[in-house]
Amino acid sequence: MKKEIFDQRRASRKAIDQSGVWRFREAVLDVDESKIITHPEGATHLYERDGIFFKHEGENPTGSFKDRGMTVAITQAARLGAGAVACASTGNTSASAAAYAAQAGLRAIVLVPSGKISAGKLAQTVAYGALCLQVRGDFDAAMRLVLEASQRLGIYLVNSINPFRIEGQKTIVWELLQDLDWNAPDWIVVPAGNLGNTSAFGKALVEARDAGWISKMPRLAAIQAHGANPFYRSFRENFAQRHRVTPETIASAIRIGDPVSYDKAVAALRDTRGVVEEVTDEELMRAKHDIDRMGIGCEPASATTLAGVRKLRASGVMRDSDRIVCVLTGHLLKDPGATTEKLIEIDPDVSAVERALGM
Ligand code: F0G
Repeated sequence: MKKEIFDQRRASRKAIDQSGVWRFREAVLDVDESKIITHPEGATHLYERDGIFFKHEGENPTGSFKDRGMTVAITQAARLGAGAVACASTGNTSASAAAYAAQAGLRAIVLVPSGKISAGKLAQTVAYGALCLQVRGDFDAAMRLVLEASQRLGIYLVNSINPFRIEGQKTIVWELLQDLDWNAPDWIVVPAGNLGNTSAFGKALVEARDAGWISKMPRLAAIQAHGANPFYRSFRENFAQRHRVTPETIASAIRIGDPVSYDKAVAALRDTRGVVEEVTDEELMRAKHDIDRMGIGCEPASATTLAGVRKLRASGVMRDSDRIVCVLTGHLLKDPGATTEKLIEIDPDVSAVERALGM
């Protein structure tokens, strides 16, 4: 496949060409075009601020990168004649699954850790019409349950262990390479939770190199929250063993202690000479504040990227001159509760406005 064809499609008005997933369709899924279920999604912006690039996947239809994998998984589910789809989620996968299932006319069943996902994500999930079951337990318990339940009940699973999800998420990398005129950056930085995206990014880069779309292999940097860092622990031991932890972090999207795509993510790190870093809640919230104040904004999990870059620069792993792309995985409004700015209430009177301005 010639990359010039992907570039030509950017000027087309067809929905499947406008989609940042299906623009790359020959390398995503071999399917009759009329069977594709697309919003369309992707075609997100790449911003440059203070010498760092930010690919804002929060600009997807349901506000997170999950839509890129979901358009492919739901297209496949419909093609197979599935009546229902299921997933476990920290909130973004469930919102996306619910939206695409609604479009396809499929029933969606989602399992979320009770009381542990943001109100916005929960609202999306139920509004799009999914049956939302709040599991007493953490994400990992919900994940184990959905694996068992989907098998027992014959329901099509759309978590990222579904390979079609990964095929769609590869296009985050291809599209950002395309945004850079196929001049590969030195680093691609991604938040790491269940490790679906890390796995997809590794596969995307290997395929891009093998197809001759890029002449240099970027390195992956996967960033975890300190309180949910099993992959970081394994990396520190050169992947000698797989770790499981009891997760706790303010970044609820990645509050995951036993990531399902561990093996594929290890391969992705090896293929790209990648690194794993961890950041504290304080570090990631400081980075979120700074991304918000750039006028871009993101949810807490996404800000692990900038926090990770700061640490990796400080330790000399990344150089100041390196070209870096941070992938912002979710929109600011996904988790408004995580915004700590003070609100000021006043009487409807001009002098109160003056006082508030410190005049
Ligand atoms: N960022 C956001 C905003 C997420 O929602 C997720 C995962 C990640 C990063 C981590 O990506 O799991 O591929 O390593 N959210 C999943 C969900 C678990 O259910 O929405 P990953």
